[in-house]
Amino acid sequence: MKRKTGKEKMADECHLCLLGLIFLSSLLTGISGVDETHVFISSGENVSLPCNNALPDCNSTTWNYNRFRDSAAVELIALGIKKKDTESHERLSLGSDCSLNINNITTEDYGSYICQQWTGVNRNQKLGSDARVYLHVLHVSSSQTEISAGLSVTLFCQLYSYPRGSCGDLIRSEGIQLFWVNQTGVKLTRSDSRYQISSSSDYCIITLNTTLLNEDDNREWRCEVTQRDQVKTSVTYTVKSSGEKTSHQSVC
Ligand SMILES: *[C@@H]1O[C@H](CO)[C@@H](O)[C@H](O)[C@H]1NC(C)=O
Ligand SMILES: *[C@@H]1O[C@H](CO)[C@@H](O)[C@H](O)[C@H]1NC(C)=O
Ligand SMILES: *[C@@H]1O[C@H](CO)[C@@H](O)[C@H](O)[C@H]1NC(C)=O
Ligand SMILES: *[C@@H]1O[C@H](CO)[C@@H](O)[C@H](O)[C@H]1NC(C)=O
Ligand SMILES: *[C@@H]1O[C@H](CO)[C@@H](O)[C@H](O)[C@H]1NC(C)=O
Repeated sequence: MKRKTGKEKMADECHLCLLGLIFLSSLLTGISGVDETHVFISSGENVSLPCNNALPDCNSTTWNYNRFRDSAAVELIALGIKKKDTESHERLSLGSDCSLNINNITTEDYGSYICQQWTGVNRNQKLGSDARVYLHVLHVSSSQTEISAGLSVTLFCQLYSYPRGSCGDLIRSEGIQLFWVNQTGVKLTRSDSRYQISSSSDYCIITLNTTLLNEDDNREWRCEVTQRDQVKTSVTYTVKSSGEKTSHQSVC
């Protein structure tokens, strides 16, 4: 038997490694032939959902939406034409690349969006695999509408994810985490005596509770959602001691 040279061995290992990669990527893209993307956005922002299977013109494009796993899909765009009977239709438009644009995102927009291409004379032949986008919406709310020094305030930061009610599963399987950070980007933790930080049992809501000080005027606290340690989107809450609060969003 001939001993394998280092080079041959390496080539073998490379084949193995290629096979591994191919196997892995077929797992990732889904055995069901669905191309999946996760998009994170803060409420109030505009978003564009990619249709990775689009044909050169969009008159074969259909966008369907689901918020619950077992509910019937709602047709948002049918063969390139926007449906006028959906709740969100005024905020929707089709991009030139057949992506779905949604303006002024609300906490009701989270869910699963599917882009399909229907061809043939009767438009009844589905071309290629579905492009599925999971849209996750980050939203911050406050226990207080009016705030001032000496009062305790609780800020709730919630990730709305498909399917409703199982955000926790997703957080585990997709490596998603929520954090509160201060102005310099340092994570606020339980060990910081000024803040009480707590999470819901499914980790989809993280709350910050603190008693406001005079020097908190203009202070910013930011809620971040990360996926595998990369910041996906964040919402900044700014303290205004004049008795009103403001908050603004920023996307990364
Ligand atoms: C969203 O889009 C609308 C219309 O194009 C624009 O007026 C608005 O400024 C955009 N909002 C953000 C947060 O980019
Ligand atoms: C779709 O659009 C292309 C290019 O604009 C056009 O040639 C074709 O006839 C259209 N098909 C239908 C069914 O409208
Ligand atoms: C965005 O939606 C919120 C309610 O979700 C509404 O109060 C606000 O006026 C909307 N903004 C724009 C620019 O339409
Ligand atoms: C952020 O937190 C770190 C650690 O607690 C602290 O050293 C830093 O001063 C804080 N920055 C602001 C702007 O509060
Ligand atoms: C926030 O903290 C204050 C002071 O510890 C406490 O009285 C209040 O109940 C807390 N609020 C929430 C919603 O946890």
